[in-house]
Amino acid sequence: MSQAPSPQHAARLTIASIARLYAEGERIAMLTAYDYPTARILDEAGIPMLLVGDSLGQVILGYDSTVRVTMAEMLHHTKAVVRGTRRALVVADMPFLSYGVTPEASLENAGVLMQEGGAGAVKLEGGERSARTIESIVRAGIPVMGHIGLTPQSIHQLGGHRVQGKTREAGRRLLSDALAVQQAGAFAMVLELVPEQLAAAITERLHVPTIGIGAGAGCSGQVQVITDLLGMSSDFTPKHARHYVELHTVIGAAAQAFQDEVRAGTFPGPEQTTRMDDATFEEVLGRTRLDRAEDIGVLHGIPLDRDL
Ligand code: KIV
Repeated sequence: MSQAPSPQHAARLTIASIARLYAEGERIAMLTAYDYPTARILDEAGIPMLLVGDSLGQVILGYDSTVRVTMAEMLHHTKAVVRGTRRALVVADMPFLSYGVTPEASLENAGVLMQEGGAGAVKLEGGERSARTIESIVRAGIPVMGHIGLTPQSIHQLGGHRVQGKTREAGRRLLSDALAVQQAGAFAMVLELVPEQLAAAITERLHVPTIGIGAGAGCSGQVQVITDLLGMSSDFTPKHARHYVELHTVIGAAAQAFQDEVRAGTFPGPEQTTRMDDATFEEVLGRTRLDRAEDIGVLHGIPLDRDL
């Protein structure tokens, strides 16, 4: 009798699996992941798409924006996430200036994230301005996820993390961006910081899934930054995020408990400790009758009990 495969043994999802979820009307959950242990947990929880977002620049590496993130850093974290997953489709962000400068470099960098990194797709920012780049990467056989609305790599042009598309012109530009990204062959696109009515209208007009972040519930799916979801930071939570747990409190309390036990001498306890055979230990320190009878001297400069 055949059994449904567990997440650990299921085949890896592809963009065809995501298209199937979309066709079946299932809202798609995507989370960012940057490291092996977190990727394992999220994969085992059944999250179908994991994004190695360049948000890692801020939330993992402590940069002030995603602009500083390099290909080498993206590759390093993509490899770790791929090693931690068996089922999820891993989407790797293309960092600032790794695409859109020349078609050759865009394709080469997308190829590196797939071939060396093991990603199943890449994501890049921009609407109409990135359409040709998306087209040439897709034509080479690499699945691309688009990203429109607030595009953090353009933060110096946009002047801050503001909701996009709120005026007649900006709203229409966003509609054209969405269509351009779809037409270029993207299998899905992130809508970031877009008013909910506009995000819903874009979603209705497309035949590929929209994955929203700060774009309301009318998108085909939702993405969140994992450190927001887990409440890793006590000082700032974006409006679009919900803490599902307060890990900064949990981790802080665990660290304090550890320190208290170290100071009290109660860590490590017997469960965390290994003892050796007592007779062998006596031999190591030169305490046996034979040792006392012989005068072998000091072992490699370490005084044995018989020498003391
Ligand atoms: O880098 C990232 O985490 C992202 C998400 C916000 C979609 O691009």
